Formats: sequence, structure tokens, C-alpha cells
Amino acid sequence: MKAIPLAADCAFTAEEQAAVYKCIFNRRDIRGQFLADPIPDDILARILRAAHHAPSVGFMQPWDFIIVRDGAVKGRIHAAFQAAHAEAAAMFDEAKREPYKSLKLQGILEAPIGICVTCDRARNGPVVVGRTHLREMDLYSAVCAVQNLWLAARAEGVGVGWVSILRREDLRAALHIPEAIDLIAYLCVGYVDHFPAKPELGSAGWLPRMALRDIVWFDRWRQRGGEEGLLSHLG
Ligand SMILES: Cc1cc2nc3c(=O)[nH]c(=O)nc-3n(C[C@H](O)[C@H](O)[C@H](O)COP(=O)(O)O)c2cc1C
Repeated sequence: MKAIPLAADCAFTAEEQAAVYKCIFNRRDIRGQFLADPIPDDILARILRAAHHAPSVGFMQPWDFIIVRDGAVKGRIHAAFQAAHAEAAAMFDEAKREPYKSLKLQGILEAPIGICVTCDRARNGPVVVGRTHLREMDLYSAVCAVQNLWLAARAEGVGVGWVSILRREDLRAALHIPEAIDLIAYLCVGYVDHFPAKPELGSAGWLPRMALRDIVWFDRWRQRGGEEGLLSHLG
């Protein structure tokens, strides 16, 4: 791959802009389409580097990435998912319980690797530029790393599925993560036989995508004043 220029003034060509939007709109959460093919180290490194270039509050870079390759470790995480999934099913009312159970919500064993993203809230000292008043900004920063990873993986043709139906303590125990470190994401990662065109929860009739024009406001919470200019472009 050609070296990517990092200069701040590097403008995007129309083709490059289109590639960015293509990546955003074609990123999908992947649960069931994983292939066993390994991800070459150079490609995985590119994806991790993209994650590491995420924005972070005070540039604290609070993330770590644990690459899970060991089948026994994946097995423990899968068992943890099954326990949490059974608990989760019981939380839905009866009408939603069976539909919930029929959803495929993880690919822990099928994916060739997992990546656990964590947040070290004490990294670089207790007072962080930008985190002084909103303490959760470090967690949000680590989530930005997940999104970068997800998009870079999509550009590489690699699927990513986020699994959050896990008891915190189970994931912590499976990966020997110390108490002081926060868990952000467990991601199933691998090549796929296809990327679904639409979110699977949408196709399964769970929820539709909301209309953007129904959630854009002006100057104060839920205020509209007949501004058709922008709204007319939102669909
Ligand atoms: C914080 C977070 C947690 C998620 N946890 C799960 C999960 O446990 N299982 C799952 O199947 N999908 C999970 N997802 C994926 C969402 O279901 C998915 O992003 C959403 O349905 C939209 O689909 P798309 O990502 O393909 O556009 C999670 C996504 C996010 C951002």
C-alpha cells in the first residue's frame, strides 16, 4: 500500500472523499459471516495503527489492545457470553424474548481473533487536559479507537463484531485484566464471506434506522423553526 501522507494540509480528492464515505456506510457489525483465514500481521498492524491514531482527551491515549488467538481463551469468553445472553433474554418482555433469542449476537468462536480494547484511566497522571470536569472523556476516547479500528478493518475487507453481552468480571477473569483497567470492547475480528448491506438488527425487524431529520435541532433541545435549508438535505 502507498504511504499515506500525514501533512495537515493534505486535501482529499473527490475519489478519496468517496472512499471515506464508502467505508462509513458499508461498515457493518459482523456476527455470523467469519472465515477462518488468518489476518496477515502487516494488515492487522495497519488496523491497530488506525485505532491508535484516534482522538483522545488530553492526548492521553488510554487504550490497550489484547489480541485473543488462543482457542481456550475464546472458549472462556464464549461461555461468558452464553451466561450473560441467558440473563439478557430474561430481561425482555415475553413478546420480545423469542425474537431476541433468535438473533445472532456474536461470532466469538468463529472469528480467527478477538481484540479486547481497554481504558487505563490513570495513564499519564491524575489531571488530564480536557478530563477535568467530564471524567468519562477517557472512556469516550477509547471508544473512538474502537471506531477507527472498525473503519480501518472495513477498508481492509476485515469484519468486526462488537460483543457487549458479557459480565464485566467474566471478561476480566478470562483476559487477566487488572481491576484498575476499564473494559471498553470485545471485538470479533476476521475476514468475512460477505458484508451485509444493512444492519442485521434492521433486517431482522428489531429496529429501523431513524430518520436523521427527526433528530436534528436548532439552538436548543428539540427546537425547530422552519429551517428547511439543512433539513431538506437530510431526507
Ligand atoms: C457499544 C456497542 C455494543 C454492541 N454490542 C453488540 C453485541 O453485544 N452483540 C451484537 O451482535 N452487536 C453489538 N453491537 C453492534 C450493533 O448491534 C450494531 O452496530 C447496530 O445494530 C447497527 O448495525 P451496524 O453496525 O451493522 O451498522 C454493538 C455496537 C456498539 C456500538
